[in-house]
Amino acid sequence: MAMERESFLGQLDLISSQLKEKLAEVHSESELEKLRQEYFGKKGFLSSLLKKLGEFPSEERSELGKKANFVKEELMATFQVRERQLRYLRYERLAEEEWFDVTEPPLPFPEGYHKKGEGHIHPVSQVQKELEDIFTSMGFSILDGPQVETDFYNFGALNFTEDHPAREMQDTFYTNDGFLLRTHTSPVQVRAMQQLSPPFRIIVPGRVFRYEELDASHEHTFYQMEGMVIDREVSVGHLLFLMHTLLKEIFKQEVNIRLRPGYFPFVEPGFELDMLCLLCGGKGCSVCKQTGYVEVLPCGLVHPNVLRAGGLDPMKWQGAAFGLGLTRLVMLRYKIEDIRHFMSADPAFLRQF
Ligand code: DAH
Repeated sequence: MAMERESFLGQLDLISSQLKEKLAEVHSESELEKLRQEYFGKKGFLSSLLKKLGEFPSEERSELGKKANFVKEELMATFQVRERQLRYLRYERLAEEEWFDVTEPPLPFPEGYHKKGEGHIHPVSQVQKELEDIFTSMGFSILDGPQVETDFYNFGALNFTEDHPAREMQDTFYTNDGFLLRTHTSPVQVRAMQQLSPPFRIIVPGRVFRYEELDASHEHTFYQMEGMVIDREVSVGHLLFLMHTLLKEIFKQEVNIRLRPGYFPFVEPGFELDMLCLLCGGKGCSVCKQTGYVEVLPCGLVHPNVLRAGGLDPMKWQGAAFGLGLTRLVMLRYKIEDIRHFMSADPAFLRQF
């Protein structure tokens, strides 16, 4: 039998007063969630009653529908208020429970960690600091840049066209709102050109990210150090001198280097700079993969399009740039065979440095 108007309104009233009473008695968010299902869920009291609207003639239906919707909205608002109260109470309890005394002496270090007073700087930070000293002594400033970048700074301004295959070599992680984790420190070249007035020399040590298949030489997170010199006349000769000096300082001995052509969209000409293997002196070993040389420093002269993207006139300014693999350098220096060690919290690894 079809439902009576009065009975519909009566039930609506009942549901409303019952729910309000129950809301006041609920004391946890999980109880609240149950209540939500009971009343607003697909088969909940309110939803079931609303379904009955269809049984009324149209003029009654619109009147009752309006009333029912009004009650429903009111109930949902009350629900939200209670939800907020309960969340707030939970935070208050948490704050109470998690309170701690910052003046208490620390707990002893777990077995295997450095003992008190034996802690030291991480190997990547140690080498970074050394490089910073070398470069500041040559008149470079140290810059930092965002790790969450835009496509423009990471790719577009660096002369990667929209569909350039080089983008594929630097796959990365994207956020839902259109940002990405920078794949290299090179975006800071562009930010520097936009913000500093030339001539200038900068280095940019920092964390970078790639979407990689992980193995002994690939990690999703690692460190690079970008370098850039902008001046009126910059040549490959300047670049070579800079790279040679840098490597001699890092390895604290004479080094032999060679240049090979290398492709990066943001430099022209672009190079891969190799260093005669310090371990075998060029005879061939596992570190240089039997080639006698190790690849250490991609570099080149800044492409005119990149100068333009940074707001500089390529007819007036020239640039040299390099991208040093900081993590790789640390691996070479300490003969670390697997990059994944850096991400492990294994004290046996860290204690060696
Ligand atoms: N950004 C490049 C990469 O991560 C490395 C690089 C190459 C940087 C050449 C440079 C450069 O500044 O000139 O693969």
